[in-house]
Amino acid sequence: MLGMGVVGSGVAEALFQKSDSLTNQIGANVDLKLILVRDKSKSRSFDVSPSLFTDNFDEIIERDDVDIVVEVMGGEHPALEFILAALKAGKHVVTANKEVMAKHGPEIFDIARERDVRVLFEASVAGGTPVVSPLMRDLVANEVNGIKAIINGTTNYMLTRMSTENIDYETVLKEAQELGYAEPDPTNDVEGIDAAYKLAILSTLGFRAQVKDDDVFCEGITGLSAKDFQYADELGYTIKLLAVSSRTNGEVQARVHPALVEKDQMLAKVDGVLNAIEIETDLTGRVLFHGPGAGSMPTSSAIVADIINIGRNIAGNAAFLDPVRLSETIKVQSISDLQTKYYLRLEAKDEPGVLAQIGSALAENNISISSFIQKGFDPKHGTAELVIMTHRATERSVQIAVKDIMDLGVVAGIGNMIRVAE
Ligand SMILES: NC(=O)c1ccc[n+]([C@@H]2O[C@H](COP(=O)([O-])OP(=O)(O)OC[C@H]3O[C@@H](n4cnc5c(N)ncnc54)[C@H](OP(=O)(O)O)[C@@H]3O)[C@@H](O)[C@H]2O)c1
Repeated sequence: MLGMGVVGSGVAEALFQKSDSLTNQIGANVDLKLILVRDKSKSRSFDVSPSLFTDNFDEIIERDDVDIVVEVMGGEHPALEFILAALKAGKHVVTANKEVMAKHGPEIFDIARERDVRVLFEASVAGGTPVVSPLMRDLVANEVNGIKAIINGTTNYMLTRMSTENIDYETVLKEAQELGYAEPDPTNDVEGIDAAYKLAILSTLGFRAQVKDDDVFCEGITGLSAKDFQYADELGYTIKLLAVSSRTNGEVQARVHPALVEKDQMLAKVDGVLNAIEIETDLTGRVLFHGPGAGSMPTSSAIVADIINIGRNIAGNAAFLDPVRLSETIKVQSISDLQTKYYLRLEAKDEPGVLAQIGSALAENNISISSFIQKGFDPKHGTAELVIMTHRATERSVQIAVKDIMDLGVVAGIGNMIRVAE
């Protein structure tokens, strides 16, 4: 096993404590032979014999009695190099690493295929909630048309708190850090990068074509304010960080951004650190996976299941089926081509004719208004807050209209522009 932090300690605990049950299920013993760490003297949340620790990766791949390498160290490098070296040495690999799988999945699949070994990565998306294996196996007869997901527990916790407690972003981030839900450096979570890695993995498996993390449009939650949650609530919505991908006419669109979600939608009800992934397919229709997206024991459930699957193959001398075939090449659409409804919050001068000018700037870009709210007259600046909900429009025209509105000279600032989930 490479790494023994939050996830590795859970895996070690499960392997030792469920040893008899694993032997029964696999038909062979699973022995944890060596654990790679940086600091061999550090105390761990699950105690194992100090003789299991090494700080030398070569010691692991040089051993003939190591069949499976479990990578739970995280980060892109040297995890990628260790995974590739393990595969090349004929070891099967189980990994929880979303960054490596999102950036280098196809290269890893190719090497595993060449060496006739398996690479399984259930824990890389949604921790303890199964979704990778269902996409690779149970839904394989389907064409996946769309994926809509909440796959970052940290931001879902933060947005749930902002929605229910009416607190601002900075306060809720501090609270999440104190509770251990957010890292001291929260960038990957709050900027949507972590969710983009996971969406790239799900989209690649669902659409059977490589969708890289760079193909995913990514906007985080840092621009959301308590006001946006109040207005969303008034309009019948909540705000979630959604990861959405769809395939139409051979083109894929993949995006992570905050979105207004109607309160009666299933995803609107996914609160706290939980994850949910809705997959729409041609044969099954819509399927929802819902559960814990992180944590030591839930994540170890996914990893140990992958170990059991490979172990059964080894014990049964069965052929290693090649579960990931990326046959299609696919064009990735720009976010500018997105068509959806939009929420705009503006600070406008409280004067006659201002609303008409904003309305015409939108109309000139083929955007029609479905409703608006005017609130919060500020006597000092002579401005009022306007919230506009549009009908369906293209992202390109909304971006141009926002610029045109700013040029009118009657708007002090655009408070926010949030896409509406359809
Ligand atoms: N935490 C979760 O709930 C969760 C859920 C799903 C997936 N994941 C994924 O699981 C992986 C591990 O996450 P984690 O939270 O368990 O991380 P973590 O607590 O930071 O643990 C990382 C472990 O890897 C070891 N390590 C890191 N770099 C190393 C290097 N260059 N050489 C040797 N050892 C090294 C560390 O050794 P030392 O202890 O000696 O420093 C540590 O034991 C990541 O890919 C993460 O994205 C995590």
